[in-house]
Amino acid sequence: PIAAPLTIAIDGPAAAGKGTLAKRLAAHYGLPYLDTGLLYRAVGRLADEQGVDLDDAEAAGAVARALDAGAIDEAALRGREAGELASRVAAHPPVRAALEAFQRAFAADPRGAVLDGRDIGTVICPGARVKIFVTASAEVRARRRTDELAAKGRTVEYERILAEVRERDARDAGRAAAPLKPAADARLLDTSELDIETAFRAACAIVDQAPH
Ligand code: DC
Repeated sequence: PIAAPLTIAIDGPAAAGKGTLAKRLAAHYGLPYLDTGLLYRAVGRLADEQGVDLDDAEAAGAVARALDAGAIDEAALRGREAGELASRVAAHPPVRAALEAFQRAFAADPRGAVLDGRDIGTVICPGARVKIFVTASAEVRARRRTDELAAKGRTVEYERILAEVRERDARDAGRAAAPLKPAADARLLDTSELDIETAFRAACAIVDQAPH
C-alpha cells in the first residue's frame, strides 16, 4: 500500500520557535520543509527596495506576483527589519493570493511536507494530517530573541524586543485576511516552559498520535 502523505502544518506567533521545530520535524520524518514567512519577507524587502508604498495592497500584490519564490536568498531576510516589512505586506489579500499557489504546490508533494507560518492550518493546508499551533508567552519569546541577538554580539534592549513582539502579534492576529489563529483542529503546543529538545519530543508525540 502507498502511504498517505504526511502534511504537517505549524503555525504560531513570531519567535515562538516554529522554525526550529518545523525544521527538526522535517528532518525526522524525511519531509521537505517550507518556511512560508520567507515568502512574505522577500515581498516586504522587494517592495521596500522598489519604493512601493507598503500600505498599497495592489502595488504590494504586484510585487508578490513578480516574486520568484524558488530563488529566495534566505540569509538576507532573517533580521527583524525584514520581519516587520513582511508583517505589513502580509496583511494585503492580493499579496496572500499571489503566494498561495506556490505554497499549495509545495504541500502537494506525494510524501507530504512540513510548512510553517501563520495560516497553514487554516488556509493553505486545511486538510493537513497534523496541525500544531506553537505558542509561548510574549515575555518568553522576547527573552529568547534578546538572548539570540546577544549570542550574535548584538545588544538590543529586552523591553524594545518585547514591544516589537507585541506589535507583530497584534498586526498578524488583528488583520482581516487570514489572521494568525489556531485551526479548530490544531493541537496547541506552549513552549514557554520547554527547552527545544522537550518541545521537539512533544511535537513528535503529536505527529505520531495523529490518525492515519
Ligand atoms: O514567520 P516569520 O516571522 O518569518 O513571518 C514574517 C511575517 O510574515 C509575519 O509577521 C506575518 C507574515 N506571515 C504571514 O502572514 N503568513 C505566513 N504564512 C507566514 C508569515
